[in-house]
Order: sequence, then C-alpha cells, then structure tokens
Amino acid sequence: RGYDVLVVGSANADLTVRVDRRPGAGETVLGTDLVESAGGKGANQAAAAARIGGRTALLARVGKDAYGDLLLAAQRAAGTDVTPVVVDAAARTGTAMIIVGPDGDNSIVVSPGANAALTPQDVAAARQTVAAATVLSLQLEIPIETVRAAAATAEECGTRVVLNPSPVPERLAPELLAVADPLVVNEHEARRLSGVADGTPRDWAHALRELGARSVVVTLGGDGALLLDAEGLHEVPGVTVDAVDTTGAGDAFTGALATRLARGDGLPDAARFAVRVGAAAVTKPGAQPSYPTLADLDALPQS
Ligand code: RIB
Ligand code: NA
Repeated sequence: RGYDVLVVGSANADLTVRVDRRPGAGETVLGTDLVESAGGKGANQAAAAARIGGRTALLARVGKDAYGDLLLAAQRAAGTDVTPVVVDAAARTGTAMIIVGPDGDNSIVVSPGANAALTPQDVAAARQTVAAATVLSLQLEIPIETVRAAAATAEECGTRVVLNPSPVPERLAPELLAVADPLVVNEHEARRLSGVADGTPRDWAHALRELGARSVVVTLGGDGALLLDAEGLHEVPGVTVDAVDTTGAGDAFTGALATRLARGDGLPDAARFAVRVGAAAVTKPGAQPSYPTLADLDALPQS
C-alpha cells in the first residue's frame, strides 16, 4: 500500500503558557511568554509517524489563516503528505489554550474551529487514500459521525484501525470499539470507557476487550504500557526521563505505534518502540516540536 498511516483528525495551533501554579476560579496568575506551535491530536499523530519515517498522510481541516499555514508547514517539514487537508475559508483554524505546570503536566481547552467542519463527505472524498493506507489512526477531536465514517470506510477497504478515544466521551459507540485494533487509552480513558471505576489497568483492559475492542493498549505514562490482545496480557516497561512537557506525548505514542504496526511489527514490539517515542516527546516543550526522529531515539536511555 502507498501509505503506512493515514490520520483522520484534528489540527490545532497550540497557544502555550507555563505557570508556577494553576489559577483557581476567579484568580489571575502570571505565566511565561506565549509560545505558538503545531498541535492537535490528529496532526500530532501524523507528525509523529512521519518523523520516524512512516509514509504518512493527513486528512484534516484548517482555516485559511496564519495558524493554518503554520500547521501545514509543520506537517510538510515532518514529511507528511498533506494533499487531503482541506483549507476552509469559512472557518478559523482550531486552537488549543494550554497551561503547563511546573511538573510538565498540562490543562488544555480546545476551540475546534475548522475541525468541527470535517465531515463524512470529506472522508468519502478521501476514500482512495483510506484504501491506500495500511493503518488508519483516529482520535475524537472531530465530529463523531466523521470518525465513524472513517472507521467504516477503513473496514470496507481492509485498513487496520488504531483508535485513541480522546477527548474521552461518556460512552463510545459499539461500532467504534469493535474496529479498534488496538484501542489506545490512558488510565483515565480506560477507567471511564470500561465502566470499572476502581479497578487496575488489567481490569480495564479485560473489560474493554469484553466490550468489543479487538486489542487494547493502556498507556501508563512513565510506567510504560499494558497490552491485551488475543494472545493475552503483555507489559512494556517505561523509560525514565525528566518530564519537561507532556503535551501530545500520547499522540506521539499512538502515531509511532500505528507506524510500526503498519510496518509489520506485532503489538508488543510496536508498543516498546512507541513508549520510547512518547518518552522522547516529554523531554522537550510543545507537542510536534518535541517529536523525535529515529536518530533522536538513539540518545534516549534504555528502559
Ligand atoms: O493531545 C495534545 C493535543 O491536544 C494538543 O496538541 C492540543 O492541540 C490538543 O488537541
Ligand atoms: Na513535549
């Protein structure tokens, strides 16, 4: 096939300020200078895949504005084929307001903008690209009917679906759960979607598979990941790094996982590689500006 990974999803300009302490309601705090950089869960997955050499395409919508230009330039620099991206003169580019605290943890508010206008018709127009991809990688920052159309098209074309249900909904449509191979969830998402409030990552993974996911990856931040597929449970250890900014680390993990699965790795090998990509991403500020090349990964400690 012509692409390892097609990402259908969101693209946002990330507007980031670092603070020593998060403001409470009604409170004002001073932060650092504003940094504008390339983000959005979909665009992040694509950039991560392309940076490590995956043949990658992105279907997204951006506005006809400076942030749209910034996002397209970042994708081109990473090596993504942006031919499917729609530049929408009627909407402004999605933006994410990000606060990063002293531990590198973040709080994000997204204004969807053009992302909200990505439609099932856009997916239909890109059907040949879906068919040309080995893996379709999805997240949930675009209209859910568009995600469902993309997943259904992938099923018809024999394209494997990787799904990160983020931001996490109250519940996930059974058809979406049933195509996820794997479903990639962090602990918060795993707890919410499994309906198992006070379990462990193992419990959540089993519950999500019983609910229909073909395979499940629970990401555990610095502790690596837990995998569950037809062959059973598998633990991938974490890589210890100094966390500077965790924004988009999960997207980097998912983009890398999708790439390696497309290249023929089994889930454990793909996840071991993706854990390293996610770890590298947390060592630098921002989402896409922090994503590693293969050469950057050599500099990381072994787990
Ligand atoms: O997952 C991180 C991303 O979430 C950021 O890049 C921001 O744009 C939001 O989409
Ligand atoms: Na980062």
